[in-house]
Amino acid sequence: MTRYFRDFPARTGNRMLFKMEHYLEIYDELLADRQGRDLSFLEIGIYKGGSLPLWQGFLGPQSRLLFLDIDPACKALELPGTQVEIGDQADPAFLERVGAAYGPFDLIVDDGGHKMHQQITSFRHLWPRLRDRGMYIVEDVHTSYWPGFGGGFREPASFIEFAKDLIDRMHSWYTEDDVGFPLHPLAREIGGIRFYDSLVVIEKRLKEPPVALTAQNGQIGRSRRMLEVRGRRSIF
Ligand SMILES: C[S@@+](CC[C@H](N)C(=O)[O-])C[C@H]1O[C@@H](n2cnc3c(N)ncnc32)[C@H](O)[C@@H]1O
Repeated sequence: MTRYFRDFPARTGNRMLFKMEHYLEIYDELLADRQGRDLSFLEIGIYKGGSLPLWQGFLGPQSRLLFLDIDPACKALELPGTQVEIGDQADPAFLERVGAAYGPFDLIVDDGGHKMHQQITSFRHLWPRLRDRGMYIVEDVHTSYWPGFGGGFREPASFIEFAKDLIDRMHSWYTEDDVGFPLHPLAREIGGIRFYDSLVVIEKRLKEPPVALTAQNGQIGRSRRMLEVRGRRSIF
């Protein structure tokens, strides 16, 4: 397996990279099949600019790379082959503008202000701009436990509670309670959610209602009966 991310810190130039160290091994594993591919990439949060060469060196030469930050000084950190846009990740109008101008994206990384409303607003407006099979990564979700960032243990408004709620949305095909827990549109869009220490990764996978498979002697049967008997006909 590639060690691109783990080896990168020793190869940095004068731009500071600011990430938690254990993300590097996770990214080597999580993103291995994306290395060298020409993708459309978006990261929120530039700071000193060290992550521009990180992502540019990882992805293919024809990739489109967009970086956002609220700090106007970050515009000077743009590199050839990258774009920097200045704005607030909690501003829906800004997100809609950059999403329309630069999307759709294959990979989105939120390493911005890490406050709850910022992470949630960005997800709400950028998730629709993520391509099928794309990944949406939110870094530093430990701020969900910090009151100064709008978090707290089991704080309903925290991003981690929002992400746990996405688990329910993803499974909303299967409920027997059409009133209390109706089908949510994200059931058709979320393929998986990974929780790592301080990272949440939401994978987009456009789906039809799930099918139960039987196979014996090469004969394949497919059925959605387990959904139908639970009164979920409305989803078909
Ligand atoms: C942790 S640093 C980014 C580090 C960088 N991604 C790296 O890997 O080296 C966070 C950045 O988010 C920016 N930021 C804070 N609040 C923001 C907001 N509301 N919208 C956009 N960017 C924001 C800050 O200006 C800062 O540059």
